[in-house]
Amino acid sequence: MTYLLALDQGTSSSRSIVFDTRGRVVAQAQQELPQIYPRPGWVEHDPMEIWRTQLATARQALAQAGLAARDIRALGITNQRETTVLWQRQTGRPLHHAIVWQDRRAEPACAELRAQGHAAAIQAKTGLLVDAYFSATKLQWLLDHIPGARAQAERGELAFGTVDSWLIWQLTGGRRHVTDVSNASRTMLFNVHSNQWDDELLQLMNIPRSLLPEVLPSASDFGHTDAAILGQPVAIGGVAGDQQAALFGQACFCAGMAKNTYGTGCFMLMHTGDQFQTSRNGLITTSAAQPSSTPAYALEGSVFVGGAVVQWLRDGLHAIRASSEVQQLAQSVPDSGGVMLVPAFTGLGAPYWQPDARGTITGLTRGSTLAHIARAALESIAYQSAALLSAMSRDAVAAGGAPVSELRVDGGACVNDLLMQFQADLLGIPVVRPAVVETTALGAAYLAGLTSGVYAGEDELSALWQAERRFVPTLARDQAQALMARWEHAVAQTVLPTK
Ligand code: G3P
Repeated sequence: MTYLLALDQGTSSSRSIVFDTRGRVVAQAQQELPQIYPRPGWVEHDPMEIWRTQLATARQALAQAGLAARDIRALGITNQRETTVLWQRQTGRPLHHAIVWQDRRAEPACAELRAQGHAAAIQAKTGLLVDAYFSATKLQWLLDHIPGARAQAERGELAFGTVDSWLIWQLTGGRRHVTDVSNASRTMLFNVHSNQWDDELLQLMNIPRSLLPEVLPSASDFGHTDAAILGQPVAIGGVAGDQQAALFGQACFCAGMAKNTYGTGCFMLMHTGDQFQTSRNGLITTSAAQPSSTPAYALEGSVFVGGAVVQWLRDGLHAIRASSEVQQLAQSVPDSGGVMLVPAFTGLGAPYWQPDARGTITGLTRGSTLAHIARAALESIAYQSAALLSAMSRDAVAAGGAPVSELRVDGGACVNDLLMQFQADLLGIPVVRPAVVETTALGAAYLAGLTSGVYAGEDELSALWQAERRFVPTLARDQAQALMARWEHAVAQTVLPTK
């Protein structure tokens, strides 16, 4: 038998999954990753912990499967994106904790870029809106705040990487400093048209080129693991940022195909083929996983508080004791009784972009109960995702394409049938849950499988994808539109008056 190993380094945990060549999970292991919050708005990870937990889970997954490194044809990596690591080339020692994608410390630098009028040019080259979310200004912060770092960088002694690069450096014993296009496209330093680091952007952000990894297509020879790591060398054949890997694992290879990942937040991506499209509706453009040098793009939108609203019901309101109880409580009432909950706890992301918005509950009556609020909380995940999908469909139509006709789903909360049915009802298109919901890791494994010749091409992967359940809309469109109008009214209440 042939197997593929996927390393999935996420924000809250490191996971490793062994797949067979039909894409079925054979074994998996997971370890939590400690979060470090040095100040309000700052989020860090210890790069050595990222590496330690990732390696431990890779070894555990192999042991659980009863396999050795020689049974693994190739390994794929997928990772939390944008998170920024800076290390010494000579020793492999990080200079600082990794600055995590959620960290807001670089906002002043971004405000300056916007004030100087660079936003349009940056978006045209990178597809991104100028925001502290992306790596460039995080790296700038590290170079400007670690004593001596800039001088060392200018002498070529340091290496920058997103988490994929950092893991590959460790896995290969420091022999390879590489990344893939999908991760590079999240740095705000990468020209997604030419697939090259952009000298003008590097100059603008004052980043020495010597820091940067080599950028390869997502299915490439990224090196071999050092023999000591897993017992014998394993080829690293695939790399992609986690959301692009999920799009790939969902076999969304053609323009107009879309997926939504329901995690702590929600990430929706729609493939746009080889066409770079600039959104007119508040979305960003990103490089999709690119198995070859043929460009591939996606439009992306994210919801900041998705499944996290269930944690708030548990830890903030004490409405439930365990997250798994939410469906039962929400189902104890036929609907939300007119209650709308907008979980704008940390502002609102795409398509609203209201950083100062705060959460709100509207439509309360004397008859409203905790069950109605729980139902409204669950439904808020679907409303926010529906607003994203509608923005995507408008962009697709503006570019001469068709609106999205089906949404593939994955991530923790996609197991909630009530939520998925409500999502289909709001969208008016089928919501499809695949048989294998580990699509992020699967995407990385597929990329590694393409490089190592396990698969001939994307057609073969499309044939492997199987639906487990299709949620078909049952609500009349005018009723769904009335619900969306109520939602938009509730969203309008989240912006607080300025003094
Ligand atoms: O852009 C951030 C995203 O890649 C994080 O994903 O699944 O680690 O929360 P996750």
